[in-house]
Amino acid sequence: MPEAPLLLAIESSCDETSAAIIDGSARILAEATHSQIPDHRPYGGVVPELASRNHTTALPGILDRVFAASGLRPADLDGFAATAGPGLASSLLVGSTTTKALALATGKPFYAINHLEGHLLSPFHGPDPIPAAVVLIASGGHTLLLHREENGSISLLGRSRDDAAGEAFDKVGKMLGLPYPGGPEIDKHAVHGNAAAFDFPRAMLDSGDGDFSFSGLKTSVRVRLAEMDAARRATSLDDLCASFQEAVVDVLVSKSIAATKALGLRHLGVGGGVACNRRLRAALTEACHREGIEPHLVSAALATDNAAMIAFAALQRHRAGLFTPLDTDIDPNLPLEGLAAARGRAATGA
Ligand code: KG4
Ligand code: ZN
Repeated sequence: MPEAPLLLAIESSCDETSAAIIDGSARILAEATHSQIPDHRPYGGVVPELASRNHTTALPGILDRVFAASGLRPADLDGFAATAGPGLASSLLVGSTTTKALALATGKPFYAINHLEGHLLSPFHGPDPIPAAVVLIASGGHTLLLHREENGSISLLGRSRDDAAGEAFDKVGKMLGLPYPGGPEIDKHAVHGNAAAFDFPRAMLDSGDGDFSFSGLKTSVRVRLAEMDAARRATSLDDLCASFQEAVVDVLVSKSIAATKALGLRHLGVGGGVACNRRLRAALTEACHREGIEPHLVSAALATDNAAMIAFAALQRHRAGLFTPLDTDIDPNLPLEGLAAARGRAATGA
């Protein structure tokens, strides 16, 4: 039997149209996601106007699917959540407006959720209390190192000063002639390559803070490629992928572990699309075991953009009685501080 509360969430911040219903023990009762990746592939990246049009056409079918799969009607739900930012304005509006309409029609609370809070909590998805932890979010849009305390307060330990880790994977994938998005492609080729074949730089490894930089690494790959003819590039593809990936993984793992140790914490979470990377998962698990830290790796199903992670964030909000007024707007640049602000907002009525 599902446990109260039943919450429905919609995620539409970028190129995934997703809806999910979870119950009070974080069980996912229904989930449906339409990925637009094939639509954007010809352009080598996400086209905002195309994304919002696709959300508009996909969302009604996605909602029908989650209602049908769960056997629930809108009136059966206890609250509705939508990603309020950061993301593409016209895409965020599609999900947010639809969610507000559901909240208004049913008289149930509305929760505006920061997309990053979804990624931040996703490694801890489940019925158990979330421990104090350092969390690495490595996605296409962000690379952030955060400290989440047991009481839910969040502080920023560091971020990428240039490209996000996923962005670096995608740009290097493009340079190597691999299909978009490059991350999963590089992961596949790297399995057959030698990670020590090319000595790529590990930027800011000893910077003493939580910041990252991946643009020098990207340039370094470009320079090496320019030195090769087409035949050499083809025979070196697997080695290039493995060596590039190892450089990214080295930095992500060592900085996350250093931050966890510096704070004296015993839990390290990893979320975001790059958390799907097999080498990152293996290296991080190994390093955590060596250091007596418990790794929390987001499941593959919750790593890339999805509504279940937004619903899980809303569940924490629901438990704290913090819902969002319906006149709260989306914010394409919703700052990280928005996490704290949303948390502190009093429940003033739906
Ligand atoms: O979290 P996400 O769906 O989107 C953002 O919110 O940005 O992450 C997508 C990113 C892309 O850059 C993609 O290349 C990367 O995650 N990614 C991977 C892997 N799977 C997805 N990067 C490395 N290895 C993977 N296996
Ligand atoms: Zn994301």
